[in-house]
Amino acid sequence: MESGGLDTATCDQMIENVIGRYSLPFAVGLNFRINDRDMLLPMVIEEPSVVAAASNAARMIRAGGGFKAEVSAPIMIAQVQLLDIADPEQACRQLMAREAEIIALAREHSESLVRRGGGPVSIEARILSRPGQPDGGMVVVHLHVDVRDAMGANLVNTVAEGVAELLAEISGGTVGLRILSNLATQRTVKISASIPDEALAGQDGAKVRDAIISASRFAELDTYRAATHNKGIMNGVDAVLMSTANDWRSVEAGAHAYAAKDGGYRPLAVWSAGPGGLYGEMTLPLAVGTVGGSLQVHAAAKFALRLLGSESAADLAAASAAAGLACNLAALRALATEGIQRGHMALHGRIVEGANKTRSDAHHEERP
Ligand code: MEV
Repeated sequence: MESGGLDTATCDQMIENVIGRYSLPFAVGLNFRINDRDMLLPMVIEEPSVVAAASNAARMIRAGGGFKAEVSAPIMIAQVQLLDIADPEQACRQLMAREAEIIALAREHSESLVRRGGGPVSIEARILSRPGQPDGGMVVVHLHVDVRDAMGANLVNTVAEGVAELLAEISGGTVGLRILSNLATQRTVKISASIPDEALAGQDGAKVRDAIISASRFAELDTYRAATHNKGIMNGVDAVLMSTANDWRSVEAGAHAYAAKDGGYRPLAVWSAGPGGLYGEMTLPLAVGTVGGSLQVHAAAKFALRLLGSESAADLAAASAAAGLACNLAALRALATEGIQRGHMALHGRIVEGANKTRSDAHHEERP
């Protein structure tokens, strides 16, 4: 762990032009109870107060029975773009009519996944543009692939490349891009929590609950606020993903696209009044893996999974979502009451103090 879980030789094999390693603090999120199971959350983040705030909110949520998580099947989407199609309607009909044949070929390109109980399950074809329009006849085919415990990017990209020629032949078009979509709408987590008023703020609980609901409404009514609201959620989500060497950029891209899927950009988590307290709910796509990728070679990421107590991608997704919802609750509670700066700056002060001390120690060492 002291090395941050990686040696330079391994780094050199992971990416190009390596000149060293770069460390971040590795912390533990406390008090999390998810689907009646206690969990320690590994969190890697540079920002002060996120871990403390998440742990504090998780303690309040625990008082209401903990987080409830519903994790979908791990279905990723691979996209194949088809161009120069003379009759897009007919192309879509023919593609769907030959779905079984396409899936059979796709399964040949994902044998190890099929052996593990996953693999391509279905397709969908959509018209993006028609002949005569500036982009000509363009169709996209989605291949839905169950990737089990993998993040799945490489697996679905291989499948997309493997079937693209057949799709072009069936549609009478030519092959364009073949790549996963980071908007993993079929690989989602719905996370919710209920907090009794008194767990929010003792006697002032009802007042604080209403202030949090009003803060949540602000994000529903205003995109500028929604962006910050969602950023606070991603503080928690990304910290868990970073600790397990997951591709947090893909989850970020998916989360924000999902937040805008109905036209306007929306808050991912929304808080309302529930029986006897506050109720919060959030759904977001979470394409995360516990096998393959950088995780294989990263000792700290492997340790993070041991800390979590699970090797299942579904559990990791639930934990990331719980961290996100906890961070959101903590932020809204602070913002709607004393303001963010008091608690945040107290912890920030520790850094400044620590940095000054390090500087002054170094100064003294130089001049004995
Ligand atoms: C800071 O990293 C996150 C917050 O701005 C989130 C929010 O405003 O909800 C505090």
